[in-house]
Amino acid sequence: MKLLVTGGAGFIGSAVVRLAVARGHQVVNLDALTYAANLANVASVAGSPAYAFEHADIRDRAALERIFAAHEPDAVMHLAAESHVDRSIDGPGDFIETNVTGTFQLLEAARKYWAGRGKPAEFRFHHISTDEVFGSLPPDPAVRFTEDTPYDPRSPYSASKAASDHLVRAWGETYGLPVVLTNCSNNYGPYHFPEKLVPVVILNALAGKPLPIYGQGANIRDWLYVEDHADALLLVLEKGALGRSYNIGGENERTNLDLVRTLCAILDRLRPKAAGSYADQIAFVADRPGHDARYAIDPSRIRRELGWRPSVTVEEGLERTVRWYLDNEAWWRPLLDRQGVGQRLGTKA
Ligand SMILES: NC(=O)c1ccc[n+]([C@@H]2O[C@H](COP(=O)([O-])OP(=O)(O)OC[C@H]3O[C@@H](n4cnc5c(N)ncnc54)[C@H](O)[C@@H]3O)[C@@H](O)[C@H]2O)c1
Repeated sequence: MKLLVTGGAGFIGSAVVRLAVARGHQVVNLDALTYAANLANVASVAGSPAYAFEHADIRDRAALERIFAAHEPDAVMHLAAESHVDRSIDGPGDFIETNVTGTFQLLEAARKYWAGRGKPAEFRFHHISTDEVFGSLPPDPAVRFTEDTPYDPRSPYSASKAASDHLVRAWGETYGLPVVLTNCSNNYGPYHFPEKLVPVVILNALAGKPLPIYGQGANIRDWLYVEDHADALLLVLEKGALGRSYNIGGENERTNLDLVRTLCAILDRLRPKAAGSYADQIAFVADRPGHDARYAIDPSRIRRELGWRPSVTVEEGLERTVRWYLDNEAWWRPLLDRQGVGQRLGTKA
């Protein structure tokens, strides 16, 4: 298949690009190269004849129409977004512009292209979204997000992603655009930009800096290894039912504090400190305004209908991740100078 992947220079998008090329797909990576992007994430496939890069913004309709006409993709995998909740608290405008308006422009460009080719039924517009659109859960393990959980976004980021989900469904219902959607839990793994919890903890630990934990660290997240996620996304694209949405989780719920302690234990083993444990660097800091208590995915649908399960436990995935950061300082070191990295964001509410 020829795939147009938006946001393919970001964390998850680049995992999709690498896996798709490895599986024999042709990939066009469309990315505006914002602060979160890094073309080094796709360096391993950049020389492949199956790979092309288009530097473009999803808000730019003319550019999108040119790219559709030039590459004639069989499917769109839409991952381009502003993705960091803390940044959405400080500056929600960029999130509305890219996640809502940008998705609208991409849908319209895709619709025009698809209609111009006689509305092929096999075409797919796959929207990659988040479990955060469903809001915040109580601690009860019996209560988890299903695909039918009502939307209840609570941050500017999750509200913008909820809006984009609604647009995609509307374009499916109203115009018949063949859409499919996925909502996933917290990803982690190699090439994760060092503003998110897992890389922040690994890199601060190595630098001897405090490991910041919001509030008491009691917030619960379900952790999904990014390469498992990329695998699930390609499966949904190829086998998912038209118009359907699938929740994708790691089946690994942990409190933030447990997650950080696990990372510290792995680091203690792989790169022991001269004295003490990395856990000694844990520092509790002011909580995020409106911090959702718990996210948890009910993975029944993707398991039952598509036979998909994650391949790693969170312990295995975190160990692979820590080893990757230890081995790839040349990747992460330059990113520490990017705007906002290393600073506490999202406290202005
Ligand atoms: N990271 C997670 O844990 C997670 C969880 C659930 C859902 N998601 C969703 O998955 C997708 C990818 O997330 P990520 O963590 O890889 O994000 P990321 O921030 O690492 O990457 C986003 C990419 O999109 C590009 N981009 C941003 N604005 C753009 C624009 N206007 N035009 C074109 N490109 C633009 C950036 O340059 C970057 O390469 C997002 O849609 C996000 O909402 C992420």
